[in-house]
Amino acid sequence: MAQRFILNEVSYFGAGARKELPEVLNRMGLKKALVCTDKGLLKVGTTKMVTDVLEAVGFPYEVYSEIKPNPTVTNVQQGVAAFKASGADCLIAVGGGSSMDTAKGIGIVSNNPEFSDVVSLEGVAPTKKKSVPIIALPTTAGTGAEVTINYVIIDEKRQAKMVCVDPNDIPAVAIVDPELMYSLPKSLTAATGMDALTHAIEGYITKGAWVMSDMYELQAIKMIAENLPLAVAEPTNPKGREGMALAQYIAAQAFSNVGLGLVHGMAHPMGSLHDVPHGVANALLLPTIMKFNMPTRIEKFGVIARTMGVDTTGMTPEEAAQAAVDAVQKLSIEVGIPQHLSELGITEKDIPALAEQALADVCTPGNPRDVTLDDIVALYKKVL
Ligand SMILES: NC(=O)c1ccc[n+]([C@@H]2O[C@H](COP(=O)([O-])OP(=O)(O)OC[C@H]3O[C@@H](n4cnc5c(N)ncnc54)[C@H](O)[C@@H]3O)[C@@H](O)[C@H]2O)c1
Ligand SMILES: [Fe+2]
Repeated sequence: MAQRFILNEVSYFGAGARKELPEVLNRMGLKKALVCTDKGLLKVGTTKMVTDVLEAVGFPYEVYSEIKPNPTVTNVQQGVAAFKASGADCLIAVGGGSSMDTAKGIGIVSNNPEFSDVVSLEGVAPTKKKSVPIIALPTTAGTGAEVTINYVIIDEKRQAKMVCVDPNDIPAVAIVDPELMYSLPKSLTAATGMDALTHAIEGYITKGAWVMSDMYELQAIKMIAENLPLAVAEPTNPKGREGMALAQYIAAQAFSNVGLGLVHGMAHPMGSLHDVPHGVANALLLPTIMKFNMPTRIEKFGVIARTMGVDTTGMTPEEAAQAAVDAVQKLSIEVGIPQHLSELGITEKDIPALAEQALADVCTPGNPRDVTLDDIVALYKKVL
């Protein structure tokens, strides 16, 4: 079977890249935008850094800001109504994965109204029309949703995260401006950065990985190991912010095309059932699930260790692989990620429901080692 690779039509990178927005809108012949963002970003003024660029050239826009972290079907449906009422012809997403994913849902449903229930979009949906044009400006260095063909929405009725995979949803343009990330608090910098590392590692060892995706994921792993501690310790140091902004995009370019694995499969129910921030859930699970996957990817784990700066000279392949797990755990502790489910209020009685959803998650089949329900229960217990 042929390999497929889907990326944005155009992408811009670097401090101040948001100033390209008027030129982008003009080139695409767009006339009015619905800006999709969340209340927190409005409050800290990050959204304003983008709307100021629109104001400066008199480009008309309205704002939809009801988006929750871990967004819901209701968020998408309200957004579709807001888009229709606004008379806009494009969506500008300013935010983390939650705002960008909601924009994707709004754009898809607006142009494919037969999916207005949103829940029928779960998995690989047979939409026929491209989303309304989306221009995505990430404000977290994590999800890379600005370049992925996925969006993640909670179905409130089932209390489950739906991963929707649809090439028609990819933002036409990504504008990755690290200046939009300086306002990100330390804990969110750490959590979203560990989400990006999880993308890079799962994308590197997933069943669908190949030479082109490996190239991106290894570069992302290297840049995250080099820059995440700095971005957390010195939030205003441009090196850390710029390195992480680019690294998370590079990781997402590849994982979007090859898939992820059990870490995401087990993290999603922690978001839908217990409202755990996505990056925290991934970071907490990553070392334990790496250890579980190690026998299937000994060589690649050695490469991960070396890419993260570990000198594996004189180690056996198994020792080098273990060094990768240790390096990830060390980084996670260094940036202050909780290490146990109990710290998040999750108890043993919650595990069966978490495990059921994890087994059914769209990301789980990409895991390099096949899993059973019992395996998943045992893995949650390990991190209790
Ligand atoms: N589409 C994809 O490919 C993909 C990949 C991974 C995760 N996700 C999904 O993305 C969501 C998580 O996104 P996220 O981790 O980027 O966080 P988020 O968008 O949920 O934002 C988390 C919090 O950070 C705040 N915030 C964001 N940027 C900020 C900034 N610059 N300054 C201050 N505060 C800021 C927001 O206001 C919010 O309160 C989850 O629903 C997850 O399942 C999607
Ligand atoms: Fe993720």
